[in-house]
Amino acid sequence: MRAVYLAIAIQLIFCTIGTLAGRDFYRILNVKKSATTNEIKKAYRKQAKELHPDKNKDDPDASTKFQDLGAAYEVLSDPEKRKTYDRCGEECLKKDGMMDSSDPFANFFGDFGFHFGNGDNNQHDTPRGANIVMNMYVTLEELYSGNFVEIVRNKPVLKPASGTRKCNCRQEMVTRNMGPGRFQMMQQTICDECPNVKLVNEERTLEIEVESGMVDGQETRFVAEGEPHLDGEPGDLIVVVQQMPHERFQRKGDDLYTNVTISLQDALVGFSLDIPHLDGHKVSVTRDKVTWPGARIRKKGEGMPNYENNNLHGNLYITFDVEFPKKDLEESDKEAIKKILEQSSINRIYNGL
Ligand SMILES: *[C@@H]1O[C@H](CO)[C@@H](O)[C@H](O)[C@H]1NC(C)=O
Repeated sequence: MRAVYLAIAIQLIFCTIGTLAGRDFYRILNVKKSATTNEIKKAYRKQAKELHPDKNKDDPDASTKFQDLGAAYEVLSDPEKRKTYDRCGEECLKKDGMMDSSDPFANFFGDFGFHFGNGDNNQHDTPRGANIVMNMYVTLEELYSGNFVEIVRNKPVLKPASGTRKCNCRQEMVTRNMGPGRFQMMQQTICDECPNVKLVNEERTLEIEVESGMVDGQETRFVAEGEPHLDGEPGDLIVVVQQMPHERFQRKGDDLYTNVTISLQDALVGFSLDIPHLDGHKVSVTRDKVTWPGARIRKKGEGMPNYENNNLHGNLYITFDVEFPKKDLEESDKEAIKKILEQSSINRIYNGL
């Protein structure tokens, strides 16, 4: 009995030490303990952009920080690993063999699109596989609130194969002896022998963030996820945002446009209504003045979030149409309306076309 207690006590101590020794993944990602998976992904992506070693060449700790971030993401984005981590920390995960990211870069690089300005990469003429361009159809709701979507891609991957192949081929000048005193210089293709490879199709799931405020036609580049090249580097996968039409809202830049039809009665006496927005919140409109057909009101800050700064929003423009009553009026009602409106029928304006 005592031995069992002792064992439990020892385990408790180990677990506590483990928590103390392990990294605080919530702090690293800068999220609350209650954060949703989407919030974790968002936080990871944002920090990965900032902490990427390519962008922090002066910071000697850059690579460690980036690896910490990768580990934090790996654990917290996986519900099972997160549960274990919450219970007893990183050491526990290691004991259970759940921390397997020997190379965090490999795991995380392809999963999100990073678009750094490394355009000078093309200077040396390493051959490159083709870029692949893929359309991603997204709703206006997704572009308003942001979302994560998975795309599955059959990607050809280079695998070792038996035998050898010619590689690194180049043109070289060789001199051939054609007999006494006669030489010929000629160009010849010289190749090395390399281990053979073959292309095997592998299914690869890419997780793409639809960021708030992205615009139609915007591109996200997945470096090296394009077609492979036998002797060089793979091309890139370019995912292009295609905004799908929305039944109630039209978008122009960061501004939104919508049409609302009100009754003639509301048009004359005023009204109050709620327009459901793209994320479900309500935009209320109240008027006590007369609203004529085609009248347009502007709701500041109720447009789309700006891509560069999600705190800035465009405007929402609401255009009103007026529905006239279909039923005919009694003579007495007509007289009453004439008296109320007092609009003379003499000064008619003929607009022409
Ligand atoms: C609003 O109505 C105008 C005129 O009929 C039309 O051109 C426009 O597409 C409509 N906008 C929306 C968002 O339905």
